[in-house]
Amino acid sequence: MAEPDPLLSDPSLADPAAVAPGGHGIGATAAPLWHGRFAEGPAEELWEYTLSLPFDQRLAPYDIAGCRAHARGLADADILTDDDVAAVIAALDTVGAELAGGLLEFAPTDEDIHTVIERRVTELAGAAGARLHTGRSRNDQVATAFRLFCKDAVATLAEHVVELQAVLLEQAAGAGTAYLPGYTHMQQAQPVLLAHHLLAHFWAFSRDLDRLADAARRLDVSPLGAGALAGSSLPLDPAATAQRLGFAGSFRNSLDAVSDRDFAAEILFAAALIGVHLSRIGEEIVIWSTEEFGFVRLADAYSTGSSMLPQKKNPDIAELARGKAGRVIGNLTGLLATIKALPLAYNRDLQEDKEPVFDSVDQVRRGLGAVAGMLATIEFRTDRMQASADSPYAAATDLAEYLVRSGVPFRDAHAVVGSVVRRSIDNGVPLADLVAAEPLLGDAAVGLLGSGVSVTQRTTPGGAGPDPVAEQLQSARLQCDSDRSTAERLRSTVSVSVLS
Ligand code: ARG
Repeated sequence: MAEPDPLLSDPSLADPAAVAPGGHGIGATAAPLWHGRFAEGPAEELWEYTLSLPFDQRLAPYDIAGCRAHARGLADADILTDDDVAAVIAALDTVGAELAGGLLEFAPTDEDIHTVIERRVTELAGAAGARLHTGRSRNDQVATAFRLFCKDAVATLAEHVVELQAVLLEQAAGAGTAYLPGYTHMQQAQPVLLAHHLLAHFWAFSRDLDRLADAARRLDVSPLGAGALAGSSLPLDPAATAQRLGFAGSFRNSLDAVSDRDFAAEILFAAALIGVHLSRIGEEIVIWSTEEFGFVRLADAYSTGSSMLPQKKNPDIAELARGKAGRVIGNLTGLLATIKALPLAYNRDLQEDKEPVFDSVDQVRRGLGAVAGMLATIEFRTDRMQASADSPYAAATDLAEYLVRSGVPFRDAHAVVGSVVRRSIDNGVPLADLVAAEPLLGDAAVGLLGSGVSVTQRTTPGGAGPDPVAEQLQSARLQCDSDRSTAERLRSTVSVSVLS
């Protein structure tokens, strides 16, 4: 499911120094993009510190799409001839294949993936290639490629969210009438159907899906044509370029177009909240899989062993779902801090936008897949859950509501039942005996203490008992179908699809 990590497939790129001036690679005679203005080349320290190629090469397919659309726009503006466009497009095809195959060596002067692509296109297409950057800056170019990546990423996250929703739904549907204690303050409160508990998580992910779709709407704007910050004197048509790239529209303010990273922050927030939701499931699975609870058994394929303790079976996926939430929250707060107080328009600070987004997308996408697999194969030990939920004290509220039905004010009913519970605990007398002996309660109320009775008493809409949960399952099925259509719609708006 995970695509190969470009840093792993080309070890020379893991170390920025490896592509610094004097490092290996062809093109030693090439100069930085801005060489005309400068009498001497960049210092090695500058290069090592400012280089983004080790991480932004991941944007290659998206940048190539942007280059294609820009080349066609230049032809419309009569800046490139038809032959030029054909040469540039063919060169872009070659560069794409070379990059995908790991065949393209980076030159010491390749600062980022955008530089690599333009350099190589110029090597292949000559003067036509040298015209490609007309009316374009890396500022609008990088924002365009990054937005295209983000569109792909949002669709991918949405697909993974829906897969997890489907697992939760299927497990809820299969849970039947099984019940477990519901907790508040981690203290047993009232029994709930297992299906109800699983569906609680389902709805959280449905909101995540909605948030992704909402972020996708604002993301779907092409910045290409904004130039460095102010547009161009050449007759370019940003709307036509936007359409070619499959964006819903193009920017309305060039300064905003090159400096806006709201879309990245929004994806990071949506991803962070998904991470938080995964962490809450993770924590429950950690607790439920303990010897003491014993509510679940994890499949061998989704657990790990101990290097020293032969008997151990550890819930590492659940723990990492909990742990990685910290990291994706950090990615969000880190980017917000980077953007804060940045003056208009592009500043190099903005280069810091990519790694947190790449990382959160990768971590959350993998987390969703791992948790879905873990939950699809988990064994619910419903006997243990039910035995734990059958504590007679869990029916205390049912006793109080029994009194309410015979006209006792709830506050008084609460006190009567509380006193019965206290005497039962203090004197070690079965609750049923004291309930039977209590004049306001009696034998009829004792029936409420029976095994499995309490959960059937939760009858209100959205409640934890069998009737409302049956209705909830119906609406969750409809919601899952609708969420799946949303994910498909998001995918259908993606013009460059590399992630999955
Ligand atoms: N690598 C840069 C980034 O990610 C590209 C833009 C550089 N633009 C510039 N004017 N130096 O933001």
